[in-house]
Amino acid sequence: MTPSKNFTRPLALALCLVAAAISSGLQAKTFRVAVGDGAGGTQHELGLKFAEEFKSRTGGKHDAKLFLNGQLGSEEDTVSNAAMGTLDFSILAINNVTPFSPSVGVLTLPYMIQSLDDAVALTQSDIGQTMVDNTVRDAGVRIIGWAYSGFRVLTNSKRPVTTIEDLKGLQIRVPKNEIMIDTYRAWGINPTPMAWSETFTGLQLKVVDGQDNPYITVSAMKFDEVQKYVTNLRYLFSIEPLIVSESMFQEQSPEMQQAILEAGKAATQHSASWLVEQEGKIKQELTAKGMVIADPADGEKEWIDRAVSQVWPKYYEQLGGKDKLNNVLKVLGRDAI
Ligand code: MLT
Repeated sequence: MTPSKNFTRPLALALCLVAAAISSGLQAKTFRVAVGDGAGGTQHELGLKFAEEFKSRTGGKHDAKLFLNGQLGSEEDTVSNAAMGTLDFSILAINNVTPFSPSVGVLTLPYMIQSLDDAVALTQSDIGQTMVDNTVRDAGVRIIGWAYSGFRVLTNSKRPVTTIEDLKGLQIRVPKNEIMIDTYRAWGINPTPMAWSETFTGLQLKVVDGQDNPYITVSAMKFDEVQKYVTNLRYLFSIEPLIVSESMFQEQSPEMQQAILEAGKAATQHSASWLVEQEGKIKQELTAKGMVIADPADGEKEWIDRAVSQVWPKYYEQLGGKDKLNNVLKVLGRDAI
């Protein structure tokens, strides 16, 4: 459908006015964006789109520079630095935000999000907006965009894993996220919590045998160089927010705030379609590079049963009670617990 002139003209005029108001304010500035992952991942793609949209919405006056591969600190540190106002923006995995704002933990509850559609529905709903508000309140950072990165698959350097039994004896790195640690405990092993910035070296030096992350992240981080076996788990759909320092955001003019929020929204929309285009292709590339991919036996039933029955009840209270979780399930069209 072609947008009508009646719609596009006022919109174009409004964008010009916002850009003009911004150009007449603050000195030209390059804002710093920390990115936890390497080039070619969903975080990078979200950041590139955000930077492009932000520049155009400020009439070319301001821009945003990405610092990849944790150059500005571990993902956890970037939350603290943004909260203190010493960093402008960061793109990181939601599991590394949860320790600062427990209510977003619902996004890391195993098997809660079962598809890209679920991830989009949840982050774009009133529940998503409440998470944004809670993160401002609890962590001093504002979520202004979301990268959708796909399911976290399990990788390891030792052997094919299809059953929970196969996991025994493997040292698996997990983020410092209680829900994810408890999920592996429900599967019968004690995982090793490790910062993301240390993970590649940990795998390379065989301090740990494996880890989990989406295919696109495995590729962007070159994990295929140090990992061979992949298990297609679907316990956690990875969502990676773009956050802005709340103190920096509040210092901006209304026009700059609008430019930041709109650029974040445009980058989010781009992220969902980019994932659909890229994921299958990257999976094939990883196979061509020698990774061996397997599905969990029995349709993942035992993995699901153990994680849901042992982990969910432990977090009802921290996540705001069963009623809150039922609201989430309702948005996803699923039965109440
Ligand atoms: C983690 O495993 O800590 C994160 O998912 C890594 C990332 O930001 O991609």
